[in-house]
Amino acid sequence: MHPAARLSTNSHADAPTSERTTLLSRLHDRTATVAIIGLGFAGLPLGVALAGAGFRVIGVDLDASKVDAINAGHSPIADVPDGVLASLLSSGKFEATTEYAALAAADSVTICVPTPLLPGHIPDLTYIESAVDALAPYLHPDMLVVLESTTYPGTTEEIIQPRVEARGLRVGVDVFIGFAPERIDPGATSSPGLTVHSVPKLVAGATPACIMHVQELYTSIVDRLVPVSSLRTAEMAKLVENSFRMVNIAFVNEVALMCDRLGIDVWEVIDAAATKPYGFLPHYPGPGLGGHCIPVDPYYLVWKLKTLNMPSRFIELAGEINRAMPAHVVSKVATALEARGLTVRGSRILVLGVTYKRDVADVRESPSLDILGLLAGRGAVVTYHDPFIPVLHVPVQAPGTIDIHGVPITLHCSELIEGLATSDCVVLATDHTAYDWDVVVRTARLIIDTRNALRHVGAPAVPTDGTRAAIVKL
Ligand SMILES: NC(=O)c1ccc[n+]([C@@H]2O[C@H](COP(=O)([O-])OP(=O)(O)OC[C@H]3O[C@@H](n4cnc5c(N)ncnc54)[C@H](O)[C@@H]3O)[C@@H](O)[C@H]2O)c1
Repeated sequence: MHPAARLSTNSHADAPTSERTTLLSRLHDRTATVAIIGLGFAGLPLGVALAGAGFRVIGVDLDASKVDAINAGHSPIADVPDGVLASLLSSGKFEATTEYAALAAADSVTICVPTPLLPGHIPDLTYIESAVDALAPYLHPDMLVVLESTTYPGTTEEIIQPRVEARGLRVGVDVFIGFAPERIDPGATSSPGLTVHSVPKLVAGATPACIMHVQELYTSIVDRLVPVSSLRTAEMAKLVENSFRMVNIAFVNEVALMCDRLGIDVWEVIDAAATKPYGFLPHYPGPGLGGHCIPVDPYYLVWKLKTLNMPSRFIELAGEINRAMPAHVVSKVATALEARGLTVRGSRILVLGVTYKRDVADVRESPSLDILGLLAGRGAVVTYHDPFIPVLHVPVQAPGTIDIHGVPITLHCSELIEGLATSDCVVLATDHTAYDWDVVVRTARLIIDTRNALRHVGAPAVPTDGTRAAIVKL
């Protein structure tokens, strides 16, 4: 059994007096210097929250242009307003750098680097490994190191712990190690229940002294901490959260295919089922899964279990169903065009919204890329509009091949009204709040609505007066 599993409590009294380090008091009174490695969707809001709580925060990121922008007060993330960033910069509470040497001054370091997949759904841990390797020379006694990146159970013990020990530092005595998974919901952090402060935070430590330090850090910014008994429990809990969402979205995507075959409106079905006051949690279909988390993280679990000869059938099946959704959208486009005497080849098709999520400037794993790539592969003249994405690189997916990473084409964001008016078909893929749906419906001719965004606009499926678009739901 891992030591952390045996040591199940986290009370200060459990730690020997020698472990009640001055680091604890510096974390408690917020005089500690805290560092964040990776200033992305997870790391920047965290760093800003810690600086707002009174800590001096150093953010380290290898992306020099991002660091320059942040230091100039330009936040790359909508959830961190420029004004908030600028005031923390001018007060000296926050600074960004590309230099790991700045970590020599840090009492605490939280790692928020990416955890993507390699081809074949294999976890790419090189970001975590290289971050910890670069941090290693600056590890010192009385230091806290927390991993926030989503990863499989065992990572913190396997990657961070040995590197600390290799420096001759004792875990739980000299250096305190924790895992505290990031739960941010990008684009939603202005909702009162979804801020850095209000979303409960899972915290775990390698030893009781470790979790004590992790708690002391995060209690400064999070209303409710949820300590768990081991690093692996926290790592697993985060993967279960994301796998739960992936599997449920796959189920409802399959329900959408069933409803399509049956001629029933899937959105109405879900709204009806959601009136049940217990035992039903609504999820909604869409053009496919996107983002750095839900389509990716569950495969960390699949991979880990494969090393133990155990299949993860729900996740594998869910992945298959979700990955097939862009092709379903393209088949809806083809059918709708055919009904108007047109073919995909040669038709002008505008994809509206290419980020994976409403109001978030992130195209990672976005199904819009697949939709554009599949349409281009079938000979459509593709364009897109997205207020967040000026330029887009799309791998063209030739029909009948298995090469989903085909030759990329570069597209530039089209002018909205012209794009709507001149396209044979509009695929509404991301329902950004900036869009005026009434204008969209009055300007386009044919819309494939993959998000049910037009439910309130009230345009008929087949317009009679030619002044409004025909709408085809997913
Ligand atoms: N984006 C989300 O919604 C979200 C939510 C919960 C958890 N997470 C998890 O948080 C982690 C980070 O995700 P993200 O979305 O913030 O990624 P991101 O790509 O937005 O940001 C990561 C940052 O790390 C930097 N970076 C990469 N390697 C580095 C290194 N060795 N040293 C210093 N900086 C480095 C990159 O330049 C980038 O700015 C991932 O494990 C992700 O699964 C993300």
